[in-house]
Amino acid sequence: MPNVLVVGSGGREHALGWKLSQSTKVDKVYYAPGNGGTENNIEISVNEIDKLAKFASENKCFTIVGPEAPLVEGIVDEFTKKGLRIFGPTKNSAQLESSKIWAKDFLKRHDITTPSFEVFDDAEKAKQYAKSVNHSLVVKADGLAAGKGVIICDDTDSALAAIDKMLVEKAFGSAGSKIVLEEKIDGEEASFIALSDGTMAIPMATSQDHKRIFDNDKGLNTGGMGAYSPAPIIDESIAEQIQKDIINKTITSMAQEGNPFKGFLYAGIMIKDDKLYVLEFNVRMGDPECQPIMMRMNSDLYEYLDACVDTDLAKLEPISWKNQSAVCVVLSSKGYPESYPKNEEMLGLDSQQSGTFVFHAGTKNEDGKILTNGGRVLGVTALGDTLQSSISNAYSMVDKISWPNKYYRTDIGKKGLIH
Ligand code: GLY
Repeated sequence: MPNVLVVGSGGREHALGWKLSQSTKVDKVYYAPGNGGTENNIEISVNEIDKLAKFASENKCFTIVGPEAPLVEGIVDEFTKKGLRIFGPTKNSAQLESSKIWAKDFLKRHDITTPSFEVFDDAEKAKQYAKSVNHSLVVKADGLAAGKGVIICDDTDSALAAIDKMLVEKAFGSAGSKIVLEEKIDGEEASFIALSDGTMAIPMATSQDHKRIFDNDKGLNTGGMGAYSPAPIIDESIAEQIQKDIINKTITSMAQEGNPFKGFLYAGIMIKDDKLYVLEFNVRMGDPECQPIMMRMNSDLYEYLDACVDTDLAKLEPISWKNQSAVCVVLSSKGYPESYPKNEEMLGLDSQQSGTFVFHAGTKNEDGKILTNGGRVLGVTALGDTLQSSISNAYSMVDKISWPNKYYRTDIGKKGLIH
């Protein structure tokens, strides 16, 4: 039986490893570098691709990659060259996330609906354009900017400031040396994640993230402060439409272009008046969306990842999901997404509650004490027979955990109750 190597250190990676460790087809699960809640941690960082490959080879590991950075660096290409089994897209396919311009051009080329846009590398020309349009804009850095490279602008002045920030002040370095000015669509945002073997894709359970730091979607954008699954905003008919018009079309078109996409394909979608707009792609699982999705998955995740590597997803049944809701409330350190304290001891982590799991993210284990070690610290994730009960279960566990600068949103999942 193979071992598994999970590359990454966040809540998403803990959830993937937790699920894979339940597979009867997997021996041991290692994490590189992992966190205070994961076992079998290997001290190799996510960008040390040669060292990761050496470890995977010596320990007969099947590898799954959590974050985008090593995918964009080409970890899958390197592992594959060495004959190692790894789940995720190649460097070329990862362009769907690594370059916003590449992704927007791809969408346009294949007639997949996306908000109108223009590309600029000159601040003055970008500003002239911003002043000339009669709609609000979203200003996007072309490259990866740790989730901060998208600025939503409600008026012309804020668009001009965002253009300056990227093209003049170079706030995101070379990632912002080219920008996309995209028409802002006012609808409801949803995520849709599918699993692909390069020729076909099957959907994961639906989910919705909460990106802003404060309740009622106020304040700065974060990596995600909580998520729930299923997301009623994506009803069966919208899910079918997304699968057909966005996911399948993307997978077919990537293959036609010679870049078959294997991995998790995450589409950020805006829904307005039943029309679907692709805002962006990620080439990996969402974090924290992964946590509630893994809690609801009945099927053996390993079988699906393994089949994707062999381009053989068609042999498997659709994934089976628990007929329950799951909610993940992210506990962060006060100050995140800006500066925040670290090394605070957490109490209450040994509290037990059935149907609930505390996934670790920014934590470390120091001599048996679990200390905070990042902005997003934990993902308290609970199942429930209804969305309301999973929300109550998650928050009841949240109350049992404490540290001095603990912070969380109090409205995770509320959006789903409205539908
Ligand atoms: N939660 C959003 C993301 O993973 O990008």
